[in-house]
Amino acid sequence: MSDPTVDPAAALSAAQRAHIFSSIQPAPGVAKPDPIIVVDDITRTFGGLTAVAVDHLEIQRGAITGLIGPNGAGKTTFFNLITGFDRPDSGTCRLDGKPLGRMVPHQVARHGMVRTFQLTKALSKLTVLDNVRLGARHQLGEHFLAALAPWTWRKQEAAITERTAGIMPVHLYGHPAKMDRIQAVADAHGLQVFEDAAQAHGASLGGRPVGSFGTFAMFSLYPTKNMTSGEGGMVSVANAEVERLVRLYRNQGMEKQYHNEVVGFNCRMTDIHAAIGRVQLTKVDAWTAKRQENAAFLSANLRGVTPPPVAPGAVHVYHQYTIRVPQDRDGFAAALREQYAIGSGMFYPVPNHKLAPFSVDVELPETARAAAECLSLPVHPSLSQGDLERIVEAVNALAAAGA
Ligand SMILES: Cc1ncc(COP(=O)(O)O)c(C=O)c1O
Repeated sequence: MSDPTVDPAAALSAAQRAHIFSSIQPAPGVAKPDPIIVVDDITRTFGGLTAVAVDHLEIQRGAITGLIGPNGAGKTTFFNLITGFDRPDSGTCRLDGKPLGRMVPHQVARHGMVRTFQLTKALSKLTVLDNVRLGARHQLGEHFLAALAPWTWRKQEAAITERTAGIMPVHLYGHPAKMDRIQAVADAHGLQVFEDAAQAHGASLGGRPVGSFGTFAMFSLYPTKNMTSGEGGMVSVANAEVERLVRLYRNQGMEKQYHNEVVGFNCRMTDIHAAIGRVQLTKVDAWTAKRQENAAFLSANLRGVTPPPVAPGAVHVYHQYTIRVPQDRDGFAAALREQYAIGSGMFYPVPNHKLAPFSVDVELPETARAAAECLSLPVHPSLSQGDLERIVEAVNALAAAGA
């Protein structure tokens, strides 16, 4: 086994490096002058799905080799195979001429070739540069005893602070999120922004429509939304590369039929849903204008409750008209229903961080207060002037009685 204290990459002079790389064809699978890893006919399947099928690959000693491909392409599975963490179903992988099948991961790491092995599960959360940084020598867990003692290398995992893949602002109720502040945070940390515009068809900030800020944005076409196709949604994208990925994931990972590139989903919209959506698209602007008129009437006439704020430069499309009722919101909603036959909604009664799948042990007092006080009144485009007056009368009477 080679001496693990000698970094083979550092031992090369610039001239030696240039010489090595001048003879390497820039194509996958070509022969390398001094390969440290050679892979032949390797396959790995899970539950009938082929995650990895590589005919031939050589990895040059003393060079950084990147596995590049879209999510779901099998990079991590392949990485696990060439680092001894996993065994292939067929084929061979040789490290420095020896079959990898007999080596355990810490032995592979001691060859000095693969240093991020204990961080595999964090790799997808990191940028390429983060990975290179993590690939520095003397990682905890590279050595036999440390590899057997997870608590030693977990300390190192805990030190990774950049684990966030992106920020997903929600243009809640149809009001644009604070995109300038969110973008500033994203830029400072090298994160992408994905907009949840499910409730915000047509909303804008500073003249810029929601859905045009992030890498991509999602608009819901569920029946309760400002427009619908019966079920389904729309995605807006920042560039052709993201568009291609969205189309791939939508169609079971295929662009060309039966040539699946990634493990995708079946999210194809039916023609019938699309036909409904196309007609609704021609109507949504008029409906939005009516929602805005209704909201303006309510905000001008409601007393004793807090109407929804609108930020400077924001165009609110009032998917919901949400007021805050500081005292006994639930009693207020019950009285609206029982005494005045007016329905209302609470979006959302349980904050995300208190829901079982996302549960985290933090106290968010403003979020808790908003969840306890928010109440959405009818604002939909079918309301008549009489309906609006009845809502105002009922809300004002209940607010005055509670005051
Ligand atoms: C804020 C928000 N995000 C996401 C969604 C999910 O959209 P869909 O129901 O079309 O999947 C909805 C709608 O239910 C929503 O209101």
